[in-house]
Amino acid sequence: MALLLRACLCLFAVLVFVDGSETKLIVREDEDAILPCSLGAADISSRVFDWKKDGRVEVFIYDDGRYYGKGLSGQHEQFRGRVFHFPEQLKGGNASIVIRKSKPADSGTYACIFPHEQPERRAHVELIVGASPRPIITANETSDGMLLLCEVNSASPEPVLEWRNSSGNILPAEKPQVSEKNGSYSVVLQTTVTKSGRYRCVSTQQKIHHQVYTETHVNVHEGAAPKPVIAVKETKDGLLLQCEVYSASPKPEVVFRDSSGNILAAEPQVTERGGSYDVILETTVTKSGDYQCVATQKEINHQRSTETRVNVPSGDSTPWIVLVGVLVVVLVFVAVGAVGAVWFHIKKKKTLKKKYEETTATGA
Ligand SMILES: *[C@@H]1O[C@H](CO)[C@@H](O)[C@H](O)[C@H]1NC(C)=O
Ligand SMILES: *[C@@H]1O[C@H](CO)[C@@H](O)[C@H](O)[C@H]1NC(C)=O
Ligand SMILES: *[C@@H]1O[C@H](CO)[C@@H](O)[C@H](O)[C@H]1NC(C)=O
Ligand SMILES: *[C@@H]1O[C@H](CO)[C@@H](O)[C@H](O)[C@H]1NC(C)=O
Repeated sequence: MALLLRACLCLFAVLVFVDGSETKLIVREDEDAILPCSLGAADISSRVFDWKKDGRVEVFIYDDGRYYGKGLSGQHEQFRGRVFHFPEQLKGGNASIVIRKSKPADSGTYACIFPHEQPERRAHVELIVGASPRPIITANETSDGMLLLCEVNSASPEPVLEWRNSSGNILPAEKPQVSEKNGSYSVVLQTTVTKSGRYRCVSTQQKIHHQVYTETHVNVHEGAAPKPVIAVKETKDGLLLQCEVYSASPKPEVVFRDSSGNILAAEPQVTERGGSYDVILETTVTKSGDYQCVATQKEINHQRSTETRVNVPSGDSTPWIVLVGVLVVVLVFVAVGAVGAVWFHIKKKKTLKKKYEETTATGA
C-alpha cells in the first residue's frame, strides 16, 4: 500500500517511428522533455520537419539548416528559447526535439510533420507535465466537531481529492473547489469529522498513475462541555444565579466567579446519565456586577465560560416597610375615629328624637 502510494512518476519515453501512432510521454515539472520523432535511417539535414502543439501552436520548424532562432521566425512565445533539435543526429533521420524546463502549460498533443514527403509523414506525442505536490491539511474545531481542510496547490494534471478514515473508507465531503492557472490546478476539499482518529487526504492523478497523501490525527472530544447557561431569579435575599452545564464527560468542575475572579460559595448538584454529567450550580448575590460561570474539564484541557451582568435593586427596603406600617396605623386610627363619630352622631340623633316625641306627647 505504502509502496503504491509513494510518489511515482512513471516515465514512458517510448520511441515510436513516424507512422501516425501516438506516444505518451510523462515528465515532471521543470524536467526536460525529449519528444521523439524519426524518419527511419534517411539523412534529413536538407529536408523540412515541423512540430506543432494541439494542431496550431508553432513549436519548432527545421528547413534545410534553418530553424526558429536561426533564419526562421513565427515560433510561439511559450517555446521561445526553450526548444532545440539534435543537429548531429539529423544524418541518422532523428527529428526529435527537447523542451527545456517543461511546465504544466506545455502539456498537450504534439505533431511531428514531414510536409514534403510523399505521402506526408506525421507522428503524435502526447506530453503530460506532472506536478504532484503533497496535500496540506488544516484542522479547525467547530461546534459540530472538527472541520478538516485539504489543499493541493499547483498540481498537474488535475488531481482528485478524497478524505478517508483509518479504515480506508471515503468520507462524505463538500464539493471540491477547483481553480486553474496556466495548466496548474489548485483544489480544496473540506469535511467535518465527529470522531477522534487518523484521517488521510489522498490526491490522485489518474492520468499519470500517481497518488500522494497526507495524514493527520484528530482529537474530537465528544463529551466536551458546552457553554454554560446562566439563569437569574429574584428572591427575598437578593438575586439567585443558576448555572447549568449538560452532557459533559469527563465530569466538569463548575464554579461561579465575581468580576475580581473570586470563587463564590456554591454547592453543585451533579447527576450522571450513562457516563455523562449534568451539573447545576446556584449562588445568591447581593451586589450588582459581572458574574461568570466556568466549566473546566482538566483531563481534556477544555474550558467554557459564560458571563452575565446582574443588577441588584439599590438602597435599603426598611423605610418602605416603616412607611407602610405608619400608614396602616394612621388608617386604622382614622377608621376607628370615623366609626366612633358616626356612632356618636346616630346616638345623639336618637336621643333628640326621643326627647321631641316625649315633648309632643306631653303637649297632646
Ligand atoms: C534522437 O536523439 C536524441 C538525443 O540524442 C535521443 O535521445 C533520441 O533517442 C534520438 N531519437 C531517435 C528516434 O533516434
Ligand atoms: C480556523 O479558526 C481560526 C481561528 O478561530 C479562524 O481564524 C480561521 O478562519 C478558521 N479557518 C477555517 C478554515 O474555518
Ligand atoms: C470508517 O467509515 C466507515 C463508514 O462510515 C465506518 O463504518 C468505519 O467504522 C469507519 N472507521 C473508523 C476507524 O472510524
Ligand atoms: C502563465 O503563463 C503566462 C504566459 O506563459 C505567463 O506570462 C504568466 O506569468 C503565467 N502565470 C503564472 C501564475 O505562472
